[in-house]
Amino acid sequence: MHLDLNWHVEGKAKFQVGNAFYRATSGVARDLGVFAAAVYKSDTGGLRVLEAMSGCGVRSLRYWLESEADWVWANEGNPDISPILHQNLADAIASGHSQVTHLDANRVFFDCYNRSDYYDLVDVDCFGSPAPYLSTSLWATKIGGLLYLTSTDGRTATGHSPKNSLSVYGAYARAHPSAHEQGLRLLIGSVQQQAATKGLGIEPVFSLFAGQVYRVMLRLVATQELTEKNFGFIGYCHQCGDYQVVPWRKLGRVVCPHDDSSLTISGPMWLGELHNATLLQRMRALAEEWNWLERVQLLKVMEAEADFPPYFFTLGEIGRRGKMDIPKRDRLIQSLHEQNYRASSTHINAQAIKTDADLPTCIAVARRS
Ligand SMILES: C[S@@+](CC[C@H](N)C(=O)[O-])C[C@H]1O[C@@H](n2cnc3c(N)ncnc32)[C@H](O)[C@@H]1O
Ligand SMILES: [Zn+2]
Repeated sequence: MHLDLNWHVEGKAKFQVGNAFYRATSGVARDLGVFAAAVYKSDTGGLRVLEAMSGCGVRSLRYWLESEADWVWANEGNPDISPILHQNLADAIASGHSQVTHLDANRVFFDCYNRSDYYDLVDVDCFGSPAPYLSTSLWATKIGGLLYLTSTDGRTATGHSPKNSLSVYGAYARAHPSAHEQGLRLLIGSVQQQAATKGLGIEPVFSLFAGQVYRVMLRLVATQELTEKNFGFIGYCHQCGDYQVVPWRKLGRVVCPHDDSSLTISGPMWLGELHNATLLQRMRALAEEWNWLERVQLLKVMEAEADFPPYFFTLGEIGRRGKMDIPKRDRLIQSLHEQNYRASSTHINAQAIKTDADLPTCIAVARRS
């Protein structure tokens, strides 16, 4: 394996990567995790973190240094990484704020459950799909605590392997232009359903699609949150490009209102809000205070898109289907506002909008603007 002996700096952390897996471009996911954890700590006064797949330990180090975690358990399945992980976390370990183990993540979760040792933040940064850890990580999470999950399995999430999505999410995912948002929603929906089997629920704190990786930060709550309304299907019309939210009871009867075509149905998945806008605002306040302007911008976009319908329209689709030049995003958003529609950019795709207008309306408005 490649040995990287350079010193890296991310946030307040200075560390070496050695033979561990580390991607500098995932920094945005670590930054947002650090903000959410810091907000949690300021609300509850305590923060105990379990990082189940810590690689070189950069996240654990940042949760300790920047979110001011009281305790960080950095677990990493591969014992070959032990020297670098111990080295990076040496100060935290020496000051009694951290421990390192090399166990399979699922053993760690059940160990926590067995000892009734529940964590404020459980971070599972796996390769591929997090399905093998979805239900088990909940066993280690405190009620009211946070669960941060990663999925790098874009092929399944975007509907390019519907059979696989049945095994991974218990959902039939199809391909369509807004499929990256679907990736986030399948993941949230799947955890929501797993939590429901335990009589619990989850609430999204934020959902992030960046660098082809899906991440969701979820709060575990004591109440069942899964409903027919927030867990269901989206239908995509290949004829006109519009989307519909499809309720369970209308599954057999739904057609496109514009052209009567049958819809390509995808799901079930989470149809509720992608983020908690209030918590995002507080994360943004921290980003402002720490002068991380790029993250401030990202968090603003995320705040604005939080409560839109569960899909977006790409500008390319609007142009192609309207047989016109690709419209300018900000101009189109402004024109939709002038027509009293809600509209916003989306962090998921810089060349797309989220709106409560339907696609034919977007095309008509784009044509006039
Ligand atoms: C994506 S890397 C972690 C990167 C790190 N969290 C970061 O932000 O730089 C995933 C890590 O999980 C470890 N891993 C894979 N499966 C595991 C399992 N079942 N239990 C514990 N660790 C595992 C791998 O050895 C790898 O180091
Ligand atoms: Zn249609």
